[in-house]
Amino acid sequence: MKAVTIPAFGEADVLRVDEVKVPEPGPGQVSIDVAYAGANFAEVLYRRGVVDVPLPFVPGIEVSGHVRAVGPEVEGLRPGQPVAALTIVDSGGYAEVAVTSADLVAPLDGLDLGLDVAAAVPSNSTTAFLVLDRVARIEPGETVLVHAAAGGVGSQLGQAARLLGAGRVVGTVGGPAKIETARGFGYDDVVLRDELPDRVAGLTGGRGFDIVVDMVGGPARRASLDALAPMGRMIVMGNASGADDVGVSANELWFANKTVSGFNLAAFSAAFPADAGRALHRAVTAAASGDLRVRVESLPLERAAEAHRRIESGATTGKLVLAVRG
Ligand SMILES: NC(=O)c1ccc[n+]([C@@H]2O[C@H](COP(=O)([O-])OP(=O)(O)OC[C@H]3O[C@@H](n4cnc5c(N)ncnc54)[C@H](OP(=O)(O)O)[C@@H]3O)[C@@H](O)[C@H]2O)c1
Repeated sequence: MKAVTIPAFGEADVLRVDEVKVPEPGPGQVSIDVAYAGANFAEVLYRRGVVDVPLPFVPGIEVSGHVRAVGPEVEGLRPGQPVAALTIVDSGGYAEVAVTSADLVAPLDGLDLGLDVAAAVPSNSTTAFLVLDRVARIEPGETVLVHAAAGGVGSQLGQAARLLGAGRVVGTVGGPAKIETARGFGYDDVVLRDELPDRVAGLTGGRGFDIVVDMVGGPARRASLDALAPMGRMIVMGNASGADDVGVSANELWFANKTVSGFNLAAFSAAFPADAGRALHRAVTAAASGDLRVRVESLPLERAAEAHRRIESGATTGKLVLAVRG
């Protein structure tokens, strides 16, 4: 079958289309004829070698398509069924056939969801629900701040916060061109990230935010911690800026009643596949009903390197997906 591989770590042009062996599902797994594969910041990190994986490596943490074959001990899934799936534990989504745990597969039967959009839901929308519900334990009426609010996961976090009963939901963006895009995803207010420290008091009546979700890192990490209300929770879930790690003082958390938590969907899905699967079902259902708006742009699989370059430029809004058989 055809797959995009990482033969060596490096810039986007290392990606190439290869012929590789069709993977077969083992016990508890299914294989999927891939229609679309989501293109994510995570795959850029694999390609750069930030995550040490055996080479050559087929990246791809999420797909949509049709069940191709069902391994032993799998119930409730059948060949031909349309599905969205997380392939995040072992990757392999940038390919004509991908294999994953049956727990991480959501059937799409009867749902009004195109396969292009369905490929964009498993990572970012599932993460949005898990981060806010399971990690931040959001309460009705709480205020939420989300960085990179026009991006793939940022566009989902604001909407998920609203669905989970948040009060004011505020986004930050890196530049003015993204302000209107982020507003279009339902944020009450959108501010330039550099201006956040001066805006927190005005946006929250001097209290700070109950929840701050930071996937940008660097100066945003420090500003996020400073922006927390008493009993506020900062969720660390990425470092898109590529900045050095930012230290957090335990004493500061102690004296100010602040909490810092981390979330990583790959590690969560490996440790708690049934929970990740439930969150995936919730995300897929919300996207199909229109409660979650997911904006996608599709490129052919062969243009995976271009998708990576665009993600790395920081200029994308919404989500890119790669058309495989779609
Ligand atoms: N922990 C998890 O399980 C999990 C799940 C999903 C995503 N993530 C992480 O969340 C982050 C965003 O992922 P995504 O899929 O939403 O990607 P994305 O749509 O490409 O969003 C990334 C955004 O980060 C901002 N950014 C700031 N500095 C940047 C830089 N130097 N280069 C590129 N972008 C920069 C940009 O927004 P502005 O222009 O607004 O600054 C950019 O649009 C990534 O770090 C990813 O690893 C983590």
